[in-house]
Order: sequence, then structure tokens, then C-alpha cells
Amino acid sequence: MKKLWGARFKAELHESAKKFTYSLGVDHELLGAEIKVSMAHALMLGKVGIISQRDSRVLVSGLWKVLATLKKKSICHMINEYEDIHTLIQSELEKKVGKLARKLHTGRSRNDLVATSMRLYLKEKIVTVLEAITQFQAILLTQAEKNRSVIIPGYTHLQRAQVVLLAHHFLAYVEMLERDKSRLLDARKRMNQCPLGAGALAGSGLSIHRMFVAKLLGFEKPTANSLDSVSDRDFALETLAAIAILFTHLSRLAEDLILWNSQEFGFIVLDDQFSTGSSLMPHKKNPDILELVRGKSGEAYGNLISLLVTMKGLPLAYNRDMQEDKKPLFASLHLAANAFSVLNGVVRTLRVDEANCERASKDSFLFATDVLEYLVKKKVPFLEAHSIVGSLVRRAVDSHSTLSGLSFETYRKYSTAFRKDVFDLFDPKVSAAGKQSFGSTKPELVARQIRLAKERLKDESKRFKQMRHQQR
Ligand code: ARG
Repeated sequence: MKKLWGARFKAELHESAKKFTYSLGVDHELLGAEIKVSMAHALMLGKVGIISQRDSRVLVSGLWKVLATLKKKSICHMINEYEDIHTLIQSELEKKVGKLARKLHTGRSRNDLVATSMRLYLKEKIVTVLEAITQFQAILLTQAEKNRSVIIPGYTHLQRAQVVLLAHHFLAYVEMLERDKSRLLDARKRMNQCPLGAGALAGSGLSIHRMFVAKLLGFEKPTANSLDSVSDRDFALETLAAIAILFTHLSRLAEDLILWNSQEFGFIVLDDQFSTGSSLMPHKKNPDILELVRGKSGEAYGNLISLLVTMKGLPLAYNRDMQEDKKPLFASLHLAANAFSVLNGVVRTLRVDEANCERASKDSFLFATDVLEYLVKKKVPFLEAHSIVGSLVRRAVDSHSTLSGLSFETYRKYSTAFRKDVFDLFDPKVSAAGKQSFGSTKPELVARQIRLAKERLKDESKRFKQMRHQQR
């Protein structure tokens, strides 16, 4: 039994057609989920009396054996022999329990089966990604804490703007990753409905119990519409979209670290373990890993676009096009896992060059906005203050001076609101400490954010662990 259909055909499928349509090479990844779905289905068939309780039990124990056998086997040499994972399991089950195996597929189709296995598989994988993100956030927080007194220039348009705490910069990524997690959790919530029992498209004429299967598999409830059940791939699209956005964040972090690691910035030094050399230039130490994190985001976007295009314009309900959902989905999940496994090391081992950070954050123009706010506090209207400080900046630039290098008399020429204490502003620590607004880079606020984030991560880790255990 190497196919789940065939009686109505006079001829065997052509070799080229087999090669083109067979999907075991990709969908063997669903083995674990598929076995669970089949076990739940067999239990349900027994419960409602479509098959006997005894048959139901034999099918379940047979499926355990199939799982044990297939886990050990290399699937490679079978990919041209069996159409897909469903067929392979069916055929192995027949080897274990004989003809009884033929009762397993009662009241279901591969269309609802694959949709169910995919959701179950994805629900589990999403938890793995959530845990990986959380672990990485914890590493970012450790760096933030370790370097909590380090100040760097913050940039807009990649031009020095105002000083910020290095910790504040790391926390920005913790926030982004938090949103990524909430997107994944949200997608997971929506995929938590069970399509099994939708049949090929119209439902079943047998007295199957969809709620029983749904609950047994840990879904909230069965899906509402059988046509939608077998033709929906939103769950995969949403996950791919969330991973694509996640990679936008990772690529930006990678870029920041690449810049900071350059001689031009010199804010950090990457560890040798996570740097590469040049085959020609003996002195080079390159951030290839971060470049690849940045580069591989292209694949994450491609995977999303690939499935969007596959799904676009498909008529209801199931179409074989949809088999192409797996490759991009699995690829993006692997991509995320691989990216975090290496990023953890990169960020954990990077060293902050405090002296370089300090030197860079002393640039007097970084405090121009503080001088402006100084005037505003002295009741000078904002736009007037902006123009006064702008003129001082121009004067400093024209005379090859710094903003703090101009004389007090010069300051007074532009505004009588200036007192000598204006020169106290040219200090990164004063600048950071002077921020007052919620969410700003004031050290106390940043310390509080670190504390809150740590608590949140602890709660989430517990929650994700529970979710993982519930899936067993
Ligand atoms: N391998 C197929 C997929 O992944 C399973 C469903 C096949 N159904 C069908 N009617 N040919 O989508």
C-alpha cells in the first residue's frame, strides 16, 4: 500500500509526475504531529462506535509503534516511494496492525488531516520560537545591566543626535522582540481551532465527534466552516509574517552591532569566536555572522511572499498548490532557530569599549538640544531658542570650535538668558540624567525598565514552559 488512492485509475502515475507531486521529502517533518492527530482520530472513532473500542486501542498502539520505527528510519530513501507522510504512516501502520489499519482514515481526508497536523506542529514550534526570543532578550538585558553606566551618542539619519544610555539602546530591541512575541502568540491563538472532520471539503456523513478530537489535541474547539477549514493557510501566513518582521528587527540589531564594531565607531568588540578573517588581508576581523543575520532576512521575507503568492486567487476549497506551504514555513522556523542560536553567542560575548563610548559621547554638539531646552526653561519661546542655538552652532562650526568652546560672551551676544551654568550641560551624564519624560533615557527610568523587563521575562518563561508541557 504505497498510495491512498488508485482504484479508479487504469495506469500508474508517470514517474515524472510522481517526482513532481510527491512531498514526503518535505512533509516528513510533520511525523510527530501527524501521529498525534491520527491517535486522537482513532480514539474518537472508537468512542462514537464507528469502530470498536478494541480496534481503536489496537490502532493507537500501532501508531505508537509506527512512530518508534519511523523516528529511527532515515526517510531519504523513501521519498520517491511514498507520496507523502500520510501515505507513509498508513503503510507502516498496516505493517504493524494488518488490515485494521484501513479503518483509520474513516471520516477524514488528507485535506483536513494535513491542515490539522500543520496547525498542531506550528502551535508547538511557535512555543520554541517564543522561548528562543525570550532567551535572547535575557542576554540583551544582561548586557544592558552590565553596561548600565555606559553612554553613547544616539543617532538619527546616522548623524550624532543626542546621548543615550547604551542600555537604553539594548532595551529598544527588547521592546521590538516583545512585540514579535505578541504577534506570534496572537497567531497561535487564532490557529487554535481544529480542522479535522471537515473531510475533503464538505464535512462527513458519519457520526464523528469533532469537539472530542479538538479537545484531545489541545485545540480550543473545531473550526466552524468545513470549506474554510481545508483551504485556510492564514495560520502559516501569519507565522511567516511575524517571523519576517522579527527578522527586520534582527537585521537592524545586526546592522547596529556591525557599525559599532567598525573602527569608525569602535563602541564594541566582537569576540574572536564570532568573527571571521579574510583569505587575503591578514589583519581583517569581520562581523560575517551579523552580516548573515542581516542577509538571511531576505529569505524570511521571501518565504512569506512565496506563500502569499501561492495562496493568492486560489478557488475554494483545497488545491494542491497548498502543499507548497510547508517549504517556506519550515524554512522560516529553522531560520529563526539558527539565527538565535548564533546571536546568543555574539551578544553574550561582545565587549563594550567604554573609553571609545565616552570619547564619542563628549562631542559638544550632542548637547545642543540640552542648551535649547535650557533656554526654554528660561521662558525663551521654543522657535527663538532653536534659532539662537542654531546660530551658536554655525558660529562654532565656522570658527572650527566646539559648542562648548565658544566664550560666555559669545553666548550672551545671542541671548541674555544664558548664565555661566550653561557650560555644565556639556556632560553626557548630566544630559542623560536631565531627561524627564516617561520612556526616556534617564538612568533611573532605564534601570526600572530593566527590572520590569526581567520580571516580565521570568513570567513569560514560566508560561511558555507550561505551554510546552501541555503539548506533550
Ligand atoms: N500532501 C498534501 C498537502 O500537503 C496533502 C493533501 C493532499 N490532498 C489531495 N487531495 N491531494 O497539501
